[in-house]
Amino acid sequence: MDARPLDWTEKYRPKSLDGIIGNRKAIEIIKQWAYKWAKGIPKEKKGLLIYGRPGTGKTSAALALAHDMGWNYLELNASDTRNYRAIRDILGGASTSSALFGTGSQITLIILDEVDNMASRFDIGGWSTILQFLEITRQPIVLIANDFWNGVVPNLKIPLNKFYRLCEIVQFYPPPYKAAKAYLINILKKEGIGFEEEAIDLILKKNIVENENVDLRGAIRDLQAVALGKRRITVKDAELVGWRDREANIFQTLGIIFTARNFRRAWLAALRVNMTPDELLEWLTENVPKIYTDPEDLALAYDFLSRADVFLGRSIRRQAYSLWAYATELMSGGVSIARRNTSAKGSWKITSSSWKKTYLSVKGDLDLIKSAAIKLRHVLHSGWKEFIREDLPYLRLICKKNPKVLASLIAFGNLTKEEAAAIVDEDVSSPIVKEAWEIKSQIKDEIVKEMHKVETKKGEKEETHKEKKTPKKTPKKKIKPKTLFDM
Ligand SMILES: Nc1ncnc2c1ncn2[C@@H]1O[C@H](COP(=O)(O)OP(=O)(O)OP(=O)(O)O)[C@@H](O)[C@H]1O
Ligand SMILES: [Mg+2]
Repeated sequence: MDARPLDWTEKYRPKSLDGIIGNRKAIEIIKQWAYKWAKGIPKEKKGLLIYGRPGTGKTSAALALAHDMGWNYLELNASDTRNYRAIRDILGGASTSSALFGTGSQITLIILDEVDNMASRFDIGGWSTILQFLEITRQPIVLIANDFWNGVVPNLKIPLNKFYRLCEIVQFYPPPYKAAKAYLINILKKEGIGFEEEAIDLILKKNIVENENVDLRGAIRDLQAVALGKRRITVKDAELVGWRDREANIFQTLGIIFTARNFRRAWLAALRVNMTPDELLEWLTENVPKIYTDPEDLALAYDFLSRADVFLGRSIRRQAYSLWAYATELMSGGVSIARRNTSAKGSWKITSSSWKKTYLSVKGDLDLIKSAAIKLRHVLHSGWKEFIREDLPYLRLICKKNPKVLASLIAFGNLTKEEAAAIVDEDVSSPIVKEAWEIKSQIKDEIVKEMHKVETKKGEKEETHKEKKTPKKTPKKKIKPKTLFDM
């Protein structure tokens, strides 16, 4: 989940292809490919493969293309297993799925992100299914990969020239130094933050990846970290940023947090680790008692960790992801300054966290409960840990008394039978799971109808209420991403 609204990489993600820096040749090819689709279904090259190293603007380009062309889009990526199942279903029945492959004039751009992971990680029939999909599709498809030669080609199992007939192929490169610098300066101007030019140069230099090219995403992240709470950035601020090691490693990060004794340094390290705050919290909780041998240090560190946990809980419940930032500060900076008496010398052994240890009292298959909880978080508005800790005991009771409740969870969370059984801690062949499974579609229809009634009534009320006060505005037409569940 890379969805912190205050994250500058999101805030300044280019909306249009013209906003993407560098990569002009690739963008011209992308535009030509799209114009062909706008005229009708092309016979060849129905797909477009964009490949290139992380953070070069590939996903942004695909989204910007949909925006520029006024197309809907449907985005599927490798980190979303829910979507993976859905892709598999759709790909499996592609030719008969009339909603997606219908003859309507509205074009929907299908974006299959991270295809180099997709094909190997999940059982979606692999590349053969994707290739088949490229032959029959009636909608434009963008495939995105990091590594074409090592990640895609070896898996194709068809001659390359055949693939070239199915796909236009473009490579994205990290943008050149000068353009990246202008981009960062533009962000600072928009944010109203002053700067010493050398500070920007220092941040850029620490993010150089190839020759004179820059990892722009990394540079934007560092810029935001340095700029936080500042009206002007100086070289001294920029010096705080470490040299970006490609995969900021969790062990190194914990090492920095435990030894820094400096709030800001620890916090910068936490920002750079490729992990969500709740994962980092688990690692810290697991390791703090092994490292902080002094009871006072330990108590204070735990105090910070529990506060961070409260913020994380709130951010998930209220869907206010900006609170994540506070949680990260508390857990990293807090733990770091809590160490007063514990010596930094000696051999520290950092171990990986096991989330299951926290839930020893919960009966049932924890892996299945976790995957069900992740699927249900949009319905229940709670994170998976809260679900297990707080909701599950009650929900289990209610479901056992009333299979309709279990049926509705199955329907709205798209749960598998095994996951449903884990929620009630019963066998898949138990009467309650069987009954819920049989009535799931019927229950979904009933609930949707009920919700529709309530919505219509509410809408009518609001309309009459509004009309008295303000003149009616014509709603702006939004390009809404379809989800597979709208099909
Ligand atoms: N060429 C670019 N032009 C403008 N902004 C860029 C460019 N490349 C990266 N960025 C910035 O970096 C962020 C990440 O870019 P994006 O998500 O498109 O990268 P990606 O190539 O899809 O990376 P990954 O392979 O990790 O998915 C964007 O939101 C944007 O702020
Ligand atoms: Mg991407």
